[in-house]
Amino acid sequence: MQRFLVEPIQQFAGTNTRIKKPTEIAFFSYDSDHKLKPLDNESLKYYYPPFFNIPGHHDNRFPIDLSKGYNSFRQRDDSGDEHLDGLLDTLVEAEKRNGKKTEVDLVTWRGMMTRILTAPYEMEDGFEMNATCFQGTIYIEENHAYKAASREAQKARFSRNRGPPQDMAMYWGYKFETLSLLNKPWGETTREEIEGREDEVVDNYAQYCSICRTEIGGASMVIGGEVDGVLGYKPDDPQAPARWVELKTSKQPEHERDRWVLDKKLLKFWAQSFLLNVPKIIIGFRSRDGKLLNIEELSTQQIPSKIQQQGTYKWNGNICINFTGQFLDFLKQTIIGEGVWRIRREAKSTAIEVFKVEEMGTGNILTQSFIDHRNKL
Ligand code: A3P
Ligand code: MG
Ligand code: MG
Repeated sequence: MQRFLVEPIQQFAGTNTRIKKPTEIAFFSYDSDHKLKPLDNESLKYYYPPFFNIPGHHDNRFPIDLSKGYNSFRQRDDSGDEHLDGLLDTLVEAEKRNGKKTEVDLVTWRGMMTRILTAPYEMEDGFEMNATCFQGTIYIEENHAYKAASREAQKARFSRNRGPPQDMAMYWGYKFETLSLLNKPWGETTREEIEGREDEVVDNYAQYCSICRTEIGGASMVIGGEVDGVLGYKPDDPQAPARWVELKTSKQPEHERDRWVLDKKLLKFWAQSFLLNVPKIIIGFRSRDGKLLNIEELSTQQIPSKIQQQGTYKWNGNICINFTGQFLDFLKQTIIGEGVWRIRREAKSTAIEVFKVEEMGTGNILTQSFIDHRNKL
């Protein structure tokens, strides 16, 4: 077993790790039945705020109740193990199109990279991932059994807390998305469609996912993850400044403790968005009982310095990036040759452990169709 020490985190201070701006190399949609559509932007959505904060202007729909329609929520059962399937199927299609392999050190979902990037500050939660090496690239997936167990634990925590029921809080997040997104560009949308969003059935089957290539320190990688929407339009040129937005809901801070919780949440929001080059995070602030009170737009890039200046929980984005650069170098030296490895951080642990769990093969991390495709290419 190999161990990589996360603490003391000051060892990762400085601004020396080179990072490359992520660029989209492919994308896919899950349609309204959650069927995978590689290289299809069918589920791309367009941001348009549910209301405008105009001082002195009274909007009689305000405040919007995020609980409305809860009983008709069309909620997808996501308890199955999807491995890296959507990402790999899309890479196959993209590689068939351009006739060459995507040569990188690492391929994974954005969620896994977020766990790594935030590891210096997320001591409470553990994680477990599976990794394998194929044709010189490391593939990392979430360990599904661990995910299922931690969901159960999260459920128990929620029911002990005095906050809203977990299902309701989750609904508020998707309701805010439905209220804030259009299925077509604004110019092609009628006023009735914009206002009709309040009565639309909330549904989490459809998703648009972006697949980006990026580099942190000496590690190049391909990361796939959902992007909630785009501001105005998606530029045709992948080098043009991205126009993505990430939507979030959060309780409007009232007490000092609430500010601290929000500043800590901003680390996750920042990490998630930074990894896919999402420049804007839009937070719908809600009351304790789910009334949407206020909408705030944050620039992803400016979050770390804002936290350094006025955060009530001070985290350092450079420490996250330097840590990630060094940890990925360690993975590149450790996950080599045949077999499957586990990457594990136990809750509250000061180290990440990497150890082999299967001597041969690639586990269930890679699909047969991906392996066949690569062996032919
Ligand atoms: P909020 O983030 O506004 O609470 P995402 O923000 O990643 O785009 O996810 C959209 C919504 O999915 C979230 O909205 C939340 O309602 C739900 N969601 C995402 N991850 C979740 C998790 N780990 N547990 C519970 N709900 C989650
Ligand atoms: Mg999302
Ligand atoms: Mg979101």
